[in-house]
Amino acid sequence: MQPAIADDLIRRIVESVHCAMMICDAQAEDTPLVYVNAAFEELTGYRSDEVLGRNPRFLQGEDRDQAEIDIVRTALTEGRNADVTLRNYRKDGSLFWVELSISPISNPAGGITHFSAIQRDVTVRKAALHALSESERRLSDVLENLPVGVFLIQNGTIQVNRAAEQITGYHRTELTDFDRSLSLLCGDSAEEVRRLWECDQTEGFPTPQILPIRDKAGTEKQIEFAICESGPQFICLLTDVTAQEDARLRMTEIQSELEQTARLSAMGETAAAIAHELNQPLTAASNYLQTVKLILSKPDLRPDPSLIDYLDKSDDEIHRAAEIIRRMRMFLRKAPIEKAWHNINNIIEESYELATLGSLERPVALRLRLAQNVPEVCVDKVQIEQVLVNLIRNALESMEESREAELSLTSTLNHDGSVRVDVADTGHGIPESVRSTLFRPFTSSKKDGMGVGLSICRSIVEQHGGVIEAHANIPLGSIFSFSLPRNGEAVSV
Ligand SMILES: Cc1cc2nc3c(=O)[nH]c(=O)nc-3n(C[C@H](O)[C@H](O)[C@H](O)COP(=O)(O)O)c2cc1C
Ligand SMILES: Nc1ncnc2c1ncn2[C@@H]1O[C@H](COP(=O)(O)OP(=O)(O)OP(=O)(O)O)[C@@H](O)[C@H]1O
Ligand SMILES: [Mg+2]
Repeated sequence: MQPAIADDLIRRIVESVHCAMMICDAQAEDTPLVYVNAAFEELTGYRSDEVLGRNPRFLQGEDRDQAEIDIVRTALTEGRNADVTLRNYRKDGSLFWVELSISPISNPAGGITHFSAIQRDVTVRKAALHALSESERRLSDVLENLPVGVFLIQNGTIQVNRAAEQITGYHRTELTDFDRSLSLLCGDSAEEVRRLWECDQTEGFPTPQILPIRDKAGTEKQIEFAICESGPQFICLLTDVTAQEDARLRMTEIQSELEQTARLSAMGETAAAIAHELNQPLTAASNYLQTVKLILSKPDLRPDPSLIDYLDKSDDEIHRAAEIIRRMRMFLRKAPIEKAWHNINNIIEESYELATLGSLERPVALRLRLAQNVPEVCVDKVQIEQVLVNLIRNALESMEESREAELSLTSTLNHDGSVRVDVADTGHGIPESVRSTLFRPFTSSKKDGMGVGLSICRSIVEQHGGVIEAHANIPLGSIFSFSLPRNGEAVSV
């Protein structure tokens, strides 16, 4: 190819390409432009006669403080290629982003005579990239500052926001691995949380679930997990609902306490009505017994003396029943209790007789271990008998199926001067189902049990300033113990 033809051909090619092209003289002062093509004129708005002889830096604006310009300067000094993206300005002052490739042109002797450059306008691409990174930045700003915890999960790694750090107590660098974080936070419920992820989301997102987690300090928190999918990522939102859950549970408790109080007060009214109704027949029965006694005491009749004794005993029992009813009405009305000084050992023995009157279907070995050094206690005798009768009946009922039934009634003097009574049996032990609510009203494991016995016992003991507790009797059965202060101060068992 002849050089003349080649020059002309090259000039026409350079002239016709759509990329802006420039050539600078490398050997002239300040590397001036010696050639620009038509695409350059179109892109920059400058005519060639306005730019030839000038260094291309006139395309830069006030903001020429760009790292890329340093790269160009160094590359030109060292005679190398330079590929950079720069901000430039057109003749009309409008900004455009330019992708610039500069190459040195050498003569056969190896000396650099010129630099050529191709400019590509990348304003649109740059703007799109900028918009994308801006929106990503805004999104991550929003996520970071959301008041709910966010776990962004992709391929087993997690990104967390500030609220998630606050909820879990862990720094985000400790929560990068999904599996590890799950077992760290959820322990046993890790599988349940994982199932939320793995469930079929074609039917919509799974219903948020409240599950317990343990934070770094070891505090258990109730967290609502809400999962949603976002492209290849999963997003899990964590809301700390511990306070709401506690309030809800407390409300449920208060509601059930209210229901129980309502039932108790309904029962109190019924009991008061029954007591009222029973008073008359009891008085009548007592009168009839007195009449029978009078008749039998006529000199000509001479009855067996034991008959009179039985009549007296029947009358005593009727009076005791009337007394229990009277005290019960007072108790239900929260009337002050009638205290007097009594020997607890006598109360224990009488209570055993009361509790077993006609009800012992099978023999029970009774072990009475009554300490002789117990001082008298100031109590309402009928009420403490009620406690003991309830405890003894429960003990006997628990041993109905036992092979060896043994009932121990023990009195002890505590170190603090209070008196302690233990009712121990060798029965089936306290069923798991009632253990946590043993002393609450309407707690019963029995078919016909009303479940009020122990709650009445607790009220009475506490009204006396005492405490009542239940324990397992090793190896078999249960022990119910209560302690009474000598004269009403609070004590511990
Ligand atoms: C062939 C050639 C083309 C150039 N084209 C541009 C250009 O389009 N825009 C630009 O800002 N700088 C361009 N430059 C770079 C500047 O001319 C100059 O080298 C750069 O600003 C660094 O030097 P300075 O610090 O002396 O200005 C070009 C340089 C050469 C050699
Ligand atoms: N000595 C005991 N051994 C094993 N379980 C007992 C004993 N005493 C009480 N319990 C358990 O506690 C429950 C509550 O006793 P509580 O006396 O309050 O009610 P109840 O005996 O079921 O009914 P009632 O109101 O008629 O007394 C019982 O149902 C039983 O499950
Ligand atoms: Mg009972």
